[in-house]
Amino acid sequence: MNAEFINQSISILAIESSCDETSASVCVDGKILSNFIANQTIHEQYGGVVPELASRAHMQNIVPVVHQALSTANCQLSTINAIAFTQAPGLIGSLLVGAQFAKSMALSLNIPLIGVHHMQAHVLANLIKESAPSFPFLCLTVSGGHTQIVLARSPLDLEVIGETIDDAAGEAFDKTAKLLGLPYPGGPLIDQYARTGNPQAFRFAEPQIPELNFSFSGLKTSVLYFLQRQSPDFIQHHLHDLCASVQYTIVNILIKKLKKAVQQTGIRQVCIAGGVSANSGLRNALKETGQKHGWQTFIPAFEYCTDNAAMIAITAYHKYLHQEFIDLDASPTARAIY
Ligand code: KG4
Ligand code: ZN
Repeated sequence: MNAEFINQSISILAIESSCDETSASVCVDGKILSNFIANQTIHEQYGGVVPELASRAHMQNIVPVVHQALSTANCQLSTINAIAFTQAPGLIGSLLVGAQFAKSMALSLNIPLIGVHHMQAHVLANLIKESAPSFPFLCLTVSGGHTQIVLARSPLDLEVIGETIDDAAGEAFDKTAKLLGLPYPGGPLIDQYARTGNPQAFRFAEPQIPELNFSFSGLKTSVLYFLQRQSPDFIQHHLHDLCASVQYTIVNILIKKLKKAVQQTGIRQVCIAGGVSANSGLRNALKETGQKHGWQTFIPAFEYCTDNAAMIAITAYHKYLHQEFIDLDASPTARAIY
């Protein structure tokens, strides 16, 4: 890195469009100045994200969302040094909208383009806070599509040391919520009902999976079989206890593997990330486990847990420092290394 480069202020405009949230963020010298998110409520009526509808909604949202992010940050396009976007993984139609928009901006402004891996960005959302973890740290990344334990040695050196062999934790929340008659996405609703339920009311299967890997498909089946044995109005009368018991089981599975990861690596700085890290049961369990075992724990602010462009911006900032740019012909599906 040359001296001229170090002295320069670095402003990045980042775009996230991997699933059903259109988001844009401005980050200057590693500080998030804006993070604007447009949620797509249209999917609720279908019980899950409809890819075609998600792409169309991104097309409608992307210009106003980027505009809002720039104006909230009080930032002129002429001061932006690089455009970042979510390169992978995600729904291809959704990714394409963000990718094409980002490429057009980079081309017209004649500035570098930065492709970001969505899961790396979830982990690095933990760096947004002032009291960020130092390296190395462990991160449990739990979202709608992924469940991973990541060993972070530096911002750009992350290793997945454990992951789900079937469903993701967010999927487990959403699929069991569906069985309980709750709308999509059911995770936040389970969280809400669980607050006034008894977590010990019902017991559901916890899988015995080797190493640091996870499995959640058995839990969904266990809940399904349990409900099939009950009377038709059982859910109505026991919704809060059912939600609390399901949440307790999922959180237990996650925390057990985190403990094992700390034992194996000796690393005691532990973070969580991804949409499910917004779950109050998981947040509380991490804090309690940390206090009990002498870990330093880190939890992103709510707005940086579910999909957002601020996490893309902070990751892009570190990539900019290492001059990790991509060509305009890069594919949005290319699996960025992380
Ligand atoms: O990270 P994210 O926004 O999108 C993906 O990259 O997948 O995660 C979405 C997932 C959904 O499964 C949603 O139900 C879950 O995060 N989620 C929650 C909560 N908030 C979001 N799950 C449990 N409790 C919550 N409070
Ligand atoms: Zn995500």
